[in-house]
Amino acid sequence: MFAKLAVSLLPLYAATAHAYANPMTCTGVCTNAHDPALIRRADGTYFRFSTGGKIAIHSAPAITGPWVYKGAVIPAGSKINLAGNQDLWAPDVALVGSTYYLYYSVSTFGSQNSAIGVATSTTLDVGSWTDLGTTGISSTASKSYNAIDANLFFDGSSYYMNFGSFWSDIFQVKMANPPLRTSGSSSTNIALTPTGTHAQEGAFMYKYGSYYYLFTSVGICCGYDTNRPASGAEYKIKVCRSSTATGGFVDKDGVSCLNGGGTIVLESHGNVYGPGGQGIFNDPSLGPVLYYHYVDTTIGYADGQKRFGMNTINFSSGWPVV
Ligand SMILES: *[C@@H]1O[C@H](CO)[C@@H](O)[C@H](O)[C@H]1NC(C)=O
Repeated sequence: MFAKLAVSLLPLYAATAHAYANPMTCTGVCTNAHDPALIRRADGTYFRFSTGGKIAIHSAPAITGPWVYKGAVIPAGSKINLAGNQDLWAPDVALVGSTYYLYYSVSTFGSQNSAIGVATSTTLDVGSWTDLGTTGISSTASKSYNAIDANLFFDGSSYYMNFGSFWSDIFQVKMANPPLRTSGSSSTNIALTPTGTHAQEGAFMYKYGSYYYLFTSVGICCGYDTNRPASGAEYKIKVCRSSTATGGFVDKDGVSCLNGGGTIVLESHGNVYGPGGQGIFNDPSLGPVLYYHYVDTTIGYADGQKRFGMNTINFSSGWPVV
């Protein structure tokens, strides 16, 4: 009886559990949007930065577009003297005072020889960026982290950099003020998938109400066209929360983020495959928007075909729902 009831309820439960909204319609240049970082200038122009093209810049009059390609943040490549300094990844952008800071990663795929660099601008426009090189956050094979995937967070008094990818996953280090360099204090581990290949990266922190939400991308990011991961091993977006920005992150079931915890916010569904590289943008008309890259399975699985995805996000239950 129990088994029979469970079977008959299962399809309904599955449909409810995975009823993600489709991405909002994006117009203009919506491909080549890997690891997007989003910001809106005071004049209302939206800027989208992404992996590749020496950090590609697109701009638009609204979050949904029409997006236009403008050029590169650092056309000459990074001044950081490391392999990968002509192939910059995973931008993060923030306004600090009257200056925009753009953090980027220098590395090569699967290597711990990595560093987080910073460039600044007062306008966000192509041609306005000055590359200042390393933030002092770097790694080699002797570290427990990989110094890529930067995300700056200001808790009202201090700047923190969240970063990391595989190895022991997500770390945090206090930054100096202004946040051009680390404060020199040691990095602490804030999220870890203790099993398998520790496939977690791309942290993004966002405060809503009295909680600090830590979003991460869990799974395999790339190369889906040549090496499709086992079903469910592709990127998905998870979240943990804490009442401080610096640790104690747990998921909806109370499982620590340092012990594999993480409540799924968005995963493959319908024509959407492998969503990740996310951020949250508090849009003046839409409220909090989860933005990310994803494969549209009707278009193609290559990294260069990754689409810019957006969904409004509802925090009313205390946990973000797409
Ligand atoms: C957010 O979700 C709650 C249910 O948890 C719902 O009542 C509310 O209408 C939603 N808000 C929006 C703006 O959709």
